[in-house]
Amino acid sequence: MKPYQPLCPAGEPPYVIAHRGISAKAPENTMAAFRLATGTPNINMIELDVRCSHDGTPVVIHDRTLQRTTTGNGAVRSYTVDELKKFDAGSWFHPTFSQECIPTLLEVLSFVRGKCWVNVELKGEFLVRSHEAFVRGVLENVRESGMKDQVLYSSFTHELVASVRRLEPTAKTGVIYNFYRDFGRSPSKLAQRAGASVFVCARRELRRSMIRDVRQHSLALYVYTLNSVQDASKMVELEIDGIISDNADDIAPVVRGS
Ligand code: G3P
Ligand code: MG
Repeated sequence: MKPYQPLCPAGEPPYVIAHRGISAKAPENTMAAFRLATGTPNINMIELDVRCSHDGTPVVIHDRTLQRTTTGNGAVRSYTVDELKKFDAGSWFHPTFSQECIPTLLEVLSFVRGKCWVNVELKGEFLVRSHEAFVRGVLENVRESGMKDQVLYSSFTHELVASVRRLEPTAKTGVIYNFYRDFGRSPSKLAQRAGASVFVCARRELRRSMIRDVRQHSLALYVYTLNSVQDASKMVELEIDGIISDNADDIAPVVRGS
């Protein structure tokens, strides 16, 4: 498969990105959600969220704590990977998914390899001293899985994005906009400061001025989370580069054909 390029080629429809897998139809960030995504034609990329276990293993889960999406309690980082693996990460969504557990990043990358690209979103933990070890662990998993040319790294924590670039200068990276922190700063300033080539923002945050700014600076623009076909079609008109959706399987046929 082609190496990942941040900018969607001119004249082509936007990339379709499965947010936490097909998270509208299977529990988010589980192998079930990732299997659905890789089984659907025309999904270009899977987005997933990564945190660190107590013993330093990158694991795939969105929240800082376990209780919303698993049978566990408390902070992800206070459990070893073996302990995390024992929690059920599917029943909260539907009893038929009770066999799902928290996947490691390496397991997901090894499964997705050759099927589509992956957007690894690194979740910050306000533990600046451990940032570098976390980033090193993630980069090591990507190298080990042979997915180096198929990965976009992104984060709300722009220091993590800068660390990725420092440790892996050819890595493709994106900064995610935080309205409360970044309001008034242009996408290009935020991206340049972290060495990123992709700017990611929420649908409600998107402004025409942002679109102009990313175009002027040849940055790619990805928008989340677009779950209706109408919203996705609007993004096609605006020539956005990436559409991040919980139901990418419904969006892909409309945006990119079946
Ligand atoms: O990368 C887009 C999106 O995933 C960021 O927000 O909270 O869904 O990880 P969140
Ligand atoms: Mg995310």
